[in-house]
Amino acid sequence: MSSSDRTSGRAGTSPAIRVAGLAKRYGDFEAVRGLDFEVAPGEVVGFLGPNGAGKTTTMRMLTGFLPATDGEAVIAGLDIFTDATPARRAIGYLPETPPLYPEMTPASYVTFVAKIKDVPRGERVARVEQALERCGLLDVRDREIRQLSKGYRQRVGLAQAIVHEPAVLVLDEPTVGLDPIQIREIRTLIRDLASTGGQTVLLSTHILAEVEAICQRVILIDRGRKVLDQSIAELTADGGSLEEVFTRVLTRDEADEAGEAA
Ligand SMILES: Nc1ncnc2c1ncn2[C@@H]1O[C@H](COP(=O)(O)OP(=O)(O)OP(=O)(O)O)[C@@H](O)[C@H]1O
Ligand SMILES: [Mg+2]
Repeated sequence: MSSSDRTSGRAGTSPAIRVAGLAKRYGDFEAVRGLDFEVAPGEVVGFLGPNGAGKTTTMRMLTGFLPATDGEAVIAGLDIFTDATPARRAIGYLPETPPLYPEMTPASYVTFVAKIKDVPRGERVARVEQALERCGLLDVRDREIRQLSKGYRQRVGLAQAIVHEPAVLVLDEPTVGLDPIQIREIRTLIRDLASTGGQTVLLSTHILAEVEAICQRVILIDRGRKVLDQSIAELTADGGSLEEVFTRVLTRDEADEAGEAA
């Protein structure tokens, strides 16, 4: 058994996401410090960590929006840095701040993204309709995006991420700004994408209830380093809450760091 099989927990399947030695330096500041992890096809993994831990930076690198200082990121077998175009087609990415075009409508914007992502012409209309419907956007499909509320803009960001039915979804805080009903719908959508569509999801969030509701596994990072990578079932096996586990791990990491610095 290769090491990748061990990490993914599924012998014989190559990982949907593989990150090795990934690092990002901004000047002297190391935002991401040698991250290694894998996500198996169809897995929903929570990518967690305190503010400033490096979640968004990592997600931007593994979706090809930010060059890495070091290391590699492979999506569905395609290297994001050396095979960028096909690799990016295999990804749906909801950025922390989606770059929406204010003059466009949800329908025209999602159609535009479907074209860029090479959705075949004959399927485009149906895929766009489905993405709009799944994200609760049918009522506002022809309004200008600039007139939409924050939550609706977030839904547009999500619709453009899923329209080409990518193998891998990278979602940076997908439910931030949504109302409770929409949060529930989007969580169900994410679960369905993985269970029926076989899509792989890596999502960041600060809502631990969300992690318990939709993720099978958690990767916790702190100050650019991985400090925990474990299934939810294992983490909560002794009846403790995720919050307790994370607090313990993060406090220990802080003490270790202080020890190293001393
Ligand atoms: N362009 C940049 N130049 C310099 N430092 C940056 C830049 N972008 C991010 N950073 C720093 O890198 C670190 C990681 O930031 P990042 O946005 O990845 O964190 P995060 O885990 O997504 O946090 P949050 O939970 O607040 O979204 C932070 O200390 C941040 O200030
Ligand atoms: Mg962030």
